[in-house]
Amino acid sequence: FAADQITIVEVGPRDGLQNEQTQVPTQVKVELINRLAEAGVGAVEATSFVSPKWVPQLADSAEVMSSIVKLPGVRYPVLTPNMKGLERAAAAGVKEVAVFPAATEAFSMKNLNASIPNILACCREVVAAARDQDIAVRGYVSCALGCPYQGKVNPQEAAKLAGNLYDMGCYEVSMGDTIGVATPASTAKLFQACQEHVPLQKLAAHMHDTYGQALANILTCLQMGITVFDTSIAGLGGCPFAMGATGNVATEDVVYMLNGFGLNHGINLDKLLAASSFITGALGKQNNSRAATAMLAA
Ligand code: HMG
Ligand code: MG
Repeated sequence: FAADQITIVEVGPRDGLQNEQTQVPTQVKVELINRLAEAGVGAVEATSFVSPKWVPQLADSAEVMSSIVKLPGVRYPVLTPNMKGLERAAAAGVKEVAVFPAATEAFSMKNLNASIPNILACCREVVAAARDQDIAVRGYVSCALGCPYQGKVNPQEAAKLAGNLYDMGCYEVSMGDTIGVATPASTAKLFQACQEHVPLQKLAAHMHDTYGQALANILTCLQMGITVFDTSIAGLGGCPFAMGATGNVATEDVVYMLNGFGLNHGINLDKLLAASSFITGALGKQNNSRAATAMLAA
């Protein structure tokens, strides 16, 4: 591989818990985030400053941010769809936010209640205001590999959107397979197209695992030189506005694969497994990570 240092962006506390049917106690969220950081994850996406009417599961975002232990060297990004979100995040002392336009008009309307051009204008405003306050901004392109409403997505269109986010000042752009339909073939096509707009080292892959292709897609990305992967503890996740989509690729499965290659990621597997057992126990759910299930049973 081109690089031996891999960055895992743990999205379970946000992408995972935004999709829970029951209200997860704030204290459980806080302990999950603390345990993940303690396990050596360099970036833990902690919550979202979105409309609490749209995502009531994360309405306690300010309290989460003020309650977690912020370990030095660990990033705790949050989602901010608009200026109101950025203002709330800044007031909560957040140092990194993420904007998340969609590659299709239909999903843009369902997820953000606005067209792609309107959301891009909104992102531009958020990025400029955040950078003025020394808040770093990550960009997502959701539905980059398939849309629950429009079906196939043109990789050139998704790549162009990634370029827009990079050009407006996002330090990294994460390409989201929101509904987990990508294959290694479509993943390779997308990231090839992206490289025409964004440097390879500034791209990340955010794979959901609905069709069981996420690990294979990540391996494809690794072979292409991508080094940043969004993953979710115990494979939690999904999007309330993308019905039928399952969780993100499990952090434990990705770490197990990276360990097989001897790639560095800084994560302590035992502590990660303890965090995994903690959250599945707290939610009363089975573990969606095959590797965690196997290792915990061994
Ligand atoms: P809207 O209803 O059009 O908002 O929603 P609005 O601007 O018309 O405002 C309506 C009310 O909401 C106002 O309050 C605003 O102040 C309030 P009122 O005057 O009625 O009392 N409001 C807010 N309150 C708190 N925080 C805010 C905020 N903004 C407005 N930030 C909006 C538009 C963008 C707000 C809404 O559509 C929204 O919150 N969407 C977010 C949906 C979401 O979080 N989806 C899941 C995350 S995306 C994802 O999972 C994909 C990803 O993982 C990548 C992948 O998998 O590919 C990232
Ligand atoms: Mg997602």
